[in-house]
Amino acid sequence: MATVFSGIQPSGTLTLGNYLGAMQHFVDLQEEHESYFCVVDQHAITVQQDKTSLRKNIRSLSALYLAAGIDPKKSTLFIQSEVPAHSQLAWMLQCVSYIGELERMTQFKDKSTGKNAVSSGLLTYPPLMAADILLYQTDIVPVGEDQKQHLELTRTLAERFNTQYNDIFTVPEVQVPPVGARIMSLQEPTKKMSKSDENSKAYVSMLDDEKTITKKLKSAVTDSDQTIVFDRENKPGVANLLSIYALASGRTIQELEKDYAGSGYGTFKTDVAQSVVELLSPIQTRYYDLIESKELDDILDAGAEHANRQANKSLIKAERAMGLGRRQ
Ligand code: AQP
Repeated sequence: MATVFSGIQPSGTLTLGNYLGAMQHFVDLQEEHESYFCVVDQHAITVQQDKTSLRKNIRSLSALYLAAGIDPKKSTLFIQSEVPAHSQLAWMLQCVSYIGELERMTQFKDKSTGKNAVSSGLLTYPPLMAADILLYQTDIVPVGEDQKQHLELTRTLAERFNTQYNDIFTVPEVQVPPVGARIMSLQEPTKKMSKSDENSKAYVSMLDDEKTITKKLKSAVTDSDQTIVFDRENKPGVANLLSIYALASGRTIQELEKDYAGSGYGTFKTDVAQSVVELLSPIQTRYYDLIESKELDDILDAGAEHANRQANKSLIKAERAMGLGRRQ
């Protein structure tokens, strides 16, 4: 049975982009694979977080995983900082990473450009991500397109470690969904939708209520052309809304283009909003049942215990291969 690992940062409330590009696919994958889903809180602190919000976001993300359909009987759900092997292996992988390859990462460039104080954690984010994945001898990593470059680096680091020390780590494959791999900002549709966007109109949060979802989608930036066709280059706003609508409703983009030929943007946007409300509403109901429950803590405790057990096996092998400590 193949092993799947994926993580999401608790750096805000999840967006529709995180759901359609990542979380939605996790639910299907757990049916056939040994699956680990992680709340990567140590990644979130690569940019400064308010401690009260971070704690709230960690709990909220954990509840959202479950509300979206992650089943603790089939998958291991846990919090990264509760499994110390992640930061231990991350340090070892930093020592096999080169500064030049870390500086070339697009996410590092995007998040550091124009800032006068950039944390070194932002630069060493990829070796921590590699540690997350490699500890579980992961075969498949389902992510949105934005994470492809980091995944390539994870593969490089695994291969380098295996060659320089010992053949310890499985080299993982990346799995990017064909549609929805990159849901774009509602206000700047050439930029990806992000939960830490300063403009809250740029994203739909998974916990937005019906009125807010409708308002945000109705004010999504489109163009003045009024035709509903999928053309990412010339009509990025409309293409983004078509992707969202297709994924939320389970229909194809071609079907939607046909149905909305001749319709105005007003009707189209109202219908997109309605499909998103219908998608998120049952998830929100389950979320509010779970968020204050003891059940949530019990699931996270059991997840941490299992993850620690599995991760430590790989960590010990890697330490031994590098010659750390006294183990022979
Ligand atoms: N816009 C998106 N479209 C499709 N997939 C997306 N993902 C993120 N944004 C989109 C996928 O969601 C998973 C979790 O992402 P993450 O939270 O670990 O980090 P991120 O990619 O940096 O997400 P955000 O929302 O942009 O967070 P911030 O604003 O904190 O940086 C990943 O699989 C990602 O591909």
